[in-house]
Amino acid sequence: MNSTAPLYEGKAKKVFATENAGEYIVEYKDDATAFNAQKRGEWAGKGATNNAITAHLYPLLEEAGIPTHFIAKLSDTEQRVKAVTIVPVEVIVRNVAAGSFCKRLGLEEGESLGRPVVEYCYKSDALGDPLINSDTAIALGWASEADLTRIRELALKVRDFLTPYFEARGVRLIDFKLEFGKLPSGEIVLADEISPDTCRFWDAETGERLDKDRFRRDLGGEAEAYAEMLKRVTKEV
Ligand code: C5P
Repeated sequence: MNSTAPLYEGKAKKVFATENAGEYIVEYKDDATAFNAQKRGEWAGKGATNNAITAHLYPLLEEAGIPTHFIAKLSDTEQRVKAVTIVPVEVIVRNVAAGSFCKRLGLEEGESLGRPVVEYCYKSDALGDPLINSDTAIALGWASEADLTRIRELALKVRDFLTPYFEARGVRLIDFKLEFGKLPSGEIVLADEISPDTCRFWDAETGERLDKDRFRRDLGGEAEAYAEMLKRVTKEV
């Protein structure tokens, strides 16, 4: 556990500086929030589960040609990462209609999409992460056109790797959110986490939700669902 004050504290993670200016330590917390922190909760083991899932997936994504900030898992709840400047644009990739996409467009959850949909949101707690388009991000200086082209390319590459990876483990990857960072060299890398907090996972056979919608929608069984996802993610097939 770190004793110094975090550089940044988010809803589910803290980021600490290290003795090495090029590296941070990320600590995953047990806190859960939804609807822009209007709903709050926590359960024991959530941070450790999300840390373990992310620490398992990021090296596999690296092997698949996606550069990431991940260096190593340090403990149950901590990982060492490369220090990046986070691009304040959250990237959502959708395989299947669900969540805010259905609300916005009047669709039934579960409708397959003809092709993956990439959406951008402005990363702002104060504004509730509003949907934007790439012109907005470029005009307001949040990312360059070249950065966004690369971010979209990497986001779709993550989708192309993860969708069959989860399918082989009995899970439909419905949608997910990514964040990207910039290294001092200017290189864009995948940052943040990939976990049941940031993805929708539906059991391929039963349709059971194995993600944060259990918490958001008061379905119960969130700890069990997250533990099940850790089992599936780390399963050799
Ligand atoms: O709510 P919505 O349907 O837009 O969410 C799409 C995907 O992005 C879901 O997998 C959700 O968990 C994730 N997401 C997230 N953080 C946000 C908004 C959405 O991880 N701030």
